[in-house]
Amino acid sequence: MKKITIAIDGFSSTGKSTVAKQLAKHLGYVYVDSGAMYRAVTYFAMQHNYISSEAFDVEALVEKLDDITISFQFNSDKGFAEVYLNGKNIEHDIRTLEVSKFVSKVAAIPEVRYLLVKQQQKMGQDKGVVMDGRDIGTVVFPNAELKIFMTASAQTRAQRRFDELIERGDEVEFDEVLKNVQERDYIDSHREDSPLIKAADATEIDNSHLTREEQFAKVLHIATITI
Ligand code: C5P
Repeated sequence: MKKITIAIDGFSSTGKSTVAKQLAKHLGYVYVDSGAMYRAVTYFAMQHNYISSEAFDVEALVEKLDDITISFQFNSDKGFAEVYLNGKNIEHDIRTLEVSKFVSKVAAIPEVRYLLVKQQQKMGQDKGVVMDGRDIGTVVFPNAELKIFMTASAQTRAQRRFDELIERGDEVEFDEVLKNVQERDYIDSHREDSPLIKAADATEIDNSHLTREEQFAKVLHIATITI
């Protein structure tokens, strides 16, 4: 069977990564979570105090971008690849609300996008990849054979993210999570460089009322007729 490139884009917490992982596993493709890469750069910026609630030293971060090495290593217990920053597994650390609060600001910096997009394109150069993010079908792989654009109401998405954070044991308020989802939606779709928009040739799926199984069946059907 020929291998294709599958781009899954959409707003925050639409369940992109869930369906992307399921699809990659089913097809024997590589799954790449591009959001994890933006989160890794954000985590680096936080560790070096380049970004906080009070200030953001963009120049200092941009100067240090060469010091950042992001890699993925497959975890067979979990069934997906975890993200590493300079050799350290940061999969758990990057999923906090704190990182979510800063990540869209970091992801709006053109130098950060340039660096990560190059790496993402390299990871997908042999096809057989499912990548999820915000600009995969528009910028990273504009020629992807299959493009999906996922949506759901902000309320539904915030509830899903809230449940995930509570399950991890994080202490968060629902309203804070909802505010973060809405803020990221706004910044991601209004930034100058690679704003989040639906590619003209993407298939839109609103999963507000779909179970995981129904969503996966829908995406798999589209993938099967494309391959
Ligand atoms: O997918 P996830 O919610 O983990 O992404 C975190 C953030 O990374 C997004 O809100 C967005 O600001 C940024 N991002 C991006 N482009 C991508 C993937 C993520 O700008 N391709």
